[in-house]
Amino acid sequence: MKNNRKVVLVGDGAVGSSFAFTLLQTTTVDEMVVVDLNEEHAQGDVIDLQDTLPSPAPTDFRTGTYADATDADIVVITAGVPRKPGETRLDLVNKNVKILESIVNPVVESGFKGTFVVSSNPVDILTTITQRLSGFPKNRVIGTGTSLDTARLRVIIAKELGMSTKGINAMVMGEHGDSSFVNFDEATINGKPLREFPNMDNAGHLNEIEKEVKGRGGEIISKKGATFYGVAVNLTKICQAILNDADVVLPISAPMNGQYGLSDIYIGSPAVINASGVQEVIEYPLSDRELEKMHTSADKLNEVLVNAK
Ligand code: LAC
Repeated sequence: MKNNRKVVLVGDGAVGSSFAFTLLQTTTVDEMVVVDLNEEHAQGDVIDLQDTLPSPAPTDFRTGTYADATDADIVVITAGVPRKPGETRLDLVNKNVKILESIVNPVVESGFKGTFVVSSNPVDILTTITQRLSGFPKNRVIGTGTSLDTARLRVIIAKELGMSTKGINAMVMGEHGDSSFVNFDEATINGKPLREFPNMDNAGHLNEIEKEVKGRGGEIISKKGATFYGVAVNLTKICQAILNDADVVLPISAPMNGQYGLSDIYIGSPAVINASGVQEVIEYPLSDRELEKMHTSADKLNEVLVNAK
């Protein structure tokens, strides 16, 4: 059993750099290697981040190449062209598939035997393509998926009800994108049905909440040009679950093998994450109308997948 906990980060843009900062400040990692086409920028970022660590540093943190993936536990892929204001995540497909191919192939050639964790958008499509390109077992490829949307949802509900997010068991599922949906029919707060809480029995209001969650990424991009902290924290949660073999349940872009009647696609669903990657995809008991939404979302992703080149 290897005891050297190693993460390779591919892509040192705003998301990658925020992820590196968050992981280094919160998690015991023996080795972390940053791979980016812009070597100079990556070196500068590594030096900047090294200044946040004590000496002797707990983490051997440096820039490197795809060859460093050979003995890594995790390869995190954040590289890709980010959305511009007004663009959907799906608009990025063809540009980012090409970038993905230039990453996955050399990582596989390095002899990497760990888990891919993908955040580049459109994340469900790129996670599916990462698994197909790498030929890895499906449990060893994970996308951030609707983990970020779910975090946003819980904050919105918690603020409205003046509660802690801890008791809010509501989730965003489906595409990390416009066809995502909230599991309002099953959601609970502190063990009680969500709809028993003030104004939460009002369908129009729930639609507004769902719309606010879906629009959050675009809203941030329109104001500051990009989003990075939210997805960086969720990348960190997924990596911690793998490194700590923690059996954590998170809504991620998970591999469908018959769950919800879906196969051969990654889509937002709760799953158990541990050192093996996806230990189990949880087929969440959706109402008929929400199962329909899951199918609609999957159909949309499959349509894009068929044409992704
Ligand atoms: C967002 C990006 C990560 O929703 O898609 O902020």
